[in-house]
This record gives sequence, structure tokens and C-alpha cells, in this order.
Amino acid sequence: MDNGKLLKEAKEARKMAYAPYSGFSVGAALVTKEGKVYRGCNIESSVFSPSLCAERVALAKAISEGEKEFSAIAIVGAPSGEEPKDPCYPCGVCRQVLSEHVDLSAFRVIVEENGKAVPCTLSELLPKAFVFDK
Ligand code: THU
Repeated sequence: MDNGKLLKEAKEARKMAYAPYSGFSVGAALVTKEGKVYRGCNIESSVFSPSLCAERVALAKAISEGEKEFSAIAIVGAPSGEEPKDPCYPCGVCRQVLSEHVDLSAFRVIVEENGKAVPCTLSELLPKAFVFDK
């Protein structure tokens, strides 16, 4: 799936964000190697710490449906009610959680900057990832 299409999916996901505390809405779209898209949005909580990032919501949806192979994730974020213009990179926790389910040097993270898709690999965002040898 091309980067622009996946960013569109992330924008659709962002419409569902539940972010009354931060006022910052995020949408993510995770695509499997077969081309199936799982959307996620941030879901906040009044007790704050259980708040969920959009990326991990999308990943949990996919993993819980049996998906195991992913090729990319697109992410958009901005204050609720505004159009995203600055790139929204995944937080450190999401980088680490994603790293366990993807090929670090092949998996693409796609953000948008001034309307343009900006891709990079997860290994660029998470060099020297923690690896737990099971
Ligand atoms: N957020 C995400 O959903 N993904 C990120 O990568 C960064 C932050 C959410 C968490 C919180 O609901 C809001 O954005 C502000 O931090």
C-alpha cells in the first residue's frame, strides 16, 4: 500500500480519537504484509496512566486478530479540531512495543510533514532496541 493511502487511513482513524484531557488527537494505520489495514486512535483515561496511544491500539487490534507480519504504520497527530501539519512520530514506548513484532530495518514508519509523506524505518527511530532473548 502506498504511503499516501496509508496516511489517509490514519486520518480516518484520528477522527475516532478520545482525547478530552490532552486535546491532542492521534490516528494510526498499521498495514500487514498482505495489505490489510488496522486503524487505531488514542484513547485517554481520566486517571491518565492507562491512556493508550493510537499506534498500540492499532497493533493490539491486529495481533488479537491473529496478524503476525507487518510492513508499515502511518501516524498523524495534531491538536483536536486542527488539521495535522507537523510530523507525529511514535513515542518511545510505542517504538519499543512495535519493535517486537516487525523487522526493524524493513518496517516503515510514515509521518506527514506539510502534506508530504515522510517515511523512515523503525531501526532509524529505535537504534539499539532492547531485545529480550526468550
Ligand atoms: N499519543 C499517541 O497516541 N501516539 C504517540 O505516538 C504520541 C502520543 C497520544 C497520547 C495522548 O493521548 C496524546 O497523544 C498526547 O500525548
